[in-house]
Amino acid sequence: MHSHAEMIGVGSYLPERRLTNADLEGMVDTSDEWIVTRTGIRERRLAEKGESTSHLAVEAARRAMADAGVGRDEIDLLVLGTSSPDMIFPATACLVQAALGLSCPAYDAMAACTGFVYALHAGTTAIESGRARTVLVVGADALTRHVDFTDRSTCVLFGDGAGAVVLRSSERPGVCGIALGTDGSGADLLGIPAGGSALPVTHERIDANLHKVKMNGNEVFRFAVRVTPKVALDALGQSGIDVGDLAYVIPHQANQRIIDAIAERLDIPRDRVFSNIATTGNTSAASIPLALDELYTSGQLSPGDLVALIGFGAGLTWGAAVVEWTKATPSKEA
Ligand code: ACO
Repeated sequence: MHSHAEMIGVGSYLPERRLTNADLEGMVDTSDEWIVTRTGIRERRLAEKGESTSHLAVEAARRAMADAGVGRDEIDLLVLGTSSPDMIFPATACLVQAALGLSCPAYDAMAACTGFVYALHAGTTAIESGRARTVLVVGADALTRHVDFTDRSTCVLFGDGAGAVVLRSSERPGVCGIALGTDGSGADLLGIPAGGSALPVTHERIDANLHKVKMNGNEVFRFAVRVTPKVALDALGQSGIDVGDLAYVIPHQANQRIIDAIAERLDIPRDRVFSNIATTGNTSAASIPLALDELYTSGQLSPGDLVALIGFGAGLTWGAAVVEWTKATPSKEA
């Protein structure tokens, strides 16, 4: 009988610096009222000067390892979901591995806002196959570094942050079901056109702002609402769990209206669909583990609770995992 991947630790990190809707009102032609009504976002965090994705990831990973009570020698694999790596290469996971003093293999999974679910899939698969016993899974992004702060249609949406979980091989279920999807025909709907091998950075491309995030918001919105309930049902079906059995759904935090639409389509009460988008904005690959950590540290998760994590993002990519929570409610000092 193969092992399951159980979540034995969770941690997250948000940079201190806040950017409020009022701040954005002074930067582009927008209003707090528009941003709150259309997205649910009130403020987001920005990585400090000198702080990059790896710094955010290291802090979240340290907290998850401390919560799990695992030492650096116990980690067999590190998988980091990000689409705002410190550099094109080496992988940000390598920088995190060194900073944490780990000696295990480490690599990045790039699936934009679905990055954490993709990384979780890799970690779960490594454990279930018996190739790893303990895996550190991180979702971290500093997408505000790539946002055009003169483009009101994107700059109000994103924030920076990181979250991490430690997976351990177990006889208990932990990750009960996990499903992924990709549709590369939608690759042009959301991305950063320049800076890769297709359009290497040139002065002209920088002048044309091609090194910044471009998004067809309406199409991405429609895609998210279409695919996320389906992939959640797919992950639930793998383990014979019904939507009604879920204690919580944690959707990727991209837009409150998308979160509400997911709740409606899954026919699950709003109070069981977690949202912290008002204070974080869209933190991309970090959003799901950040939300999971908030739910856990605020004492809202109990052992035996079933939680569905649902991601979607550029690629297009999407994915869902159903997790049986096994950790006791924390008695963490502030
Ligand atoms: N402030 C004021 N007005 C604005 C702003 C702003 N910040 N942004 C756009 N507008 C205007 C538009 O110019 C437009 O004006 P017009 O009617 O005169 O042309 C009007 O508001 C409506 O624009 P829409 O784009 O239709 O607004 P919509 O209600 O669709 O909201 C939004 C836009 C918030 C981007 C929405 O489409 C969305 O959330 N899409 C999904 C985005 C998403 O999930 N992205 C992340 C994916 S994850 C990843 O991989 C990174």
